[in-house]
Amino acid sequence: MKRLYNLMLVCMLMVTLSACGKQAGKESIVDAAAGQDGETGNDLGGGEEQQPQIQEGGNTVTGDITFDFDTKTVLLNSGYEMPIYGIGTYSLTGDTCVESVTAALDRGVRLIDTAHMYHNEESVGEAVRNSGIPREEIFVITKLYPNQFDHPEAAIEEALAKLDIEYIDLMLLHHPGAGDVEAYLAMEEAVADGKIRSLGLSNWYVEELEEFLPQINITPALVQNEIHPYYQENDVIPYIHSLGIVVQGWYPLGGRGYTSQMLGNEVISEIAAAHGKSSAQVILRWNLQKGVVVIPGSSNPDHIQENTELFDFELTEEEMERIGALDRGEKHDWY
Ligand SMILES: NC(=O)c1ccc[n+]([C@@H]2O[C@H](COP(=O)([O-])OP(=O)(O)OC[C@H]3O[C@@H](n4cnc5c(N)ncnc54)[C@H](OP(=O)(O)O)[C@@H]3O)[C@@H](O)[C@H]2O)c1
Repeated sequence: MKRLYNLMLVCMLMVTLSACGKQAGKESIVDAAAGQDGETGNDLGGGEEQQPQIQEGGNTVTGDITFDFDTKTVLLNSGYEMPIYGIGTYSLTGDTCVESVTAALDRGVRLIDTAHMYHNEESVGEAVRNSGIPREEIFVITKLYPNQFDHPEAAIEEALAKLDIEYIDLMLLHHPGAGDVEAYLAMEEAVADGKIRSLGLSNWYVEELEEFLPQINITPALVQNEIHPYYQENDVIPYIHSLGIVVQGWYPLGGRGYTSQMLGNEVISEIAAAHGKSSAQVILRWNLQKGVVVIPGSSNPDHIQENTELFDFELTEEEMERIGALDRGEKHDWY
């Protein structure tokens, strides 16, 4: 019942927002070309660094999280720009992680997702430092795990020390758990101290967000949840977007153990053949056109390259709908 109520609320919000968007002459989130004005805090383009415009009360809620398909970035509500595609590093450790992140950086990837729980923050930091790419051009996400929520200040220092890349672009709470509000408030302090630039959550859905958001001061810039053709979160994504929060999907290719059935799906393979692209590229592009940032994991340089080539084709409305029809509420992990 609560889910139905949420859904109705979301629909009402979307109607209102869509009316506002039309008045302001803005394109919808799936429209590709709307440009951001470049008044952002980081420098993913390589020019001089600017400071984000921070309003009193903590963060800048711009309300415009339209993907810019020219710059391949999105403007977060914190005032910082973030790439809309990157590499995930779950299960990549040691040299494999360093080599995979290096391969990604060499191929133009500028968004890296790590976490305390992946035991590879040192390796990610090493690859970033050794890349020769200016720090401002790379965007690193890491996460605090629930077993760190009772000592968040020390956990943030630990992440900073392990990464050793001056600051953290975006820190998430990995899962809801005891002490999550206090941990988030500690991350807010770290933002004020310049240690972290933007904040977010992972594995928070509608009910969790409704309960959590009134207890904190800085609206999350991003929520990272499981999203793939078999688990689409079609009610959750519009709700998060309506709050001006960017959505990022984990397990975009279904996650290890599920990728071959996902990539071999008949509908996806057919659409891929029609565009002369791979199934992986079609799934990643489908996410982008839904306004979902993608962070596929890979240790294969050919796959890493393939996962960057998402901007020379576009799925039609009908193709988007055909993939949309594959949703079967099938989660590939417990959280
Ligand atoms: N917040 C959370 O709770 C949470 C949970 C899970 C994951 N994550 C994040 O999300 C990221 C993505 O998830 P994931 O890496 O576990 O799963 P995934 O991206 O869905 O799938 C990774 C698998 O896909 C294969 N692959 C990648 N690109 C491919 C391509 N172009 N063609 C064919 N196969 C390809 C990889 O194999 P190869 O190595 O051979 O390319 C790997 O086996 C993680 O790395 C992590 O950063 C977050």
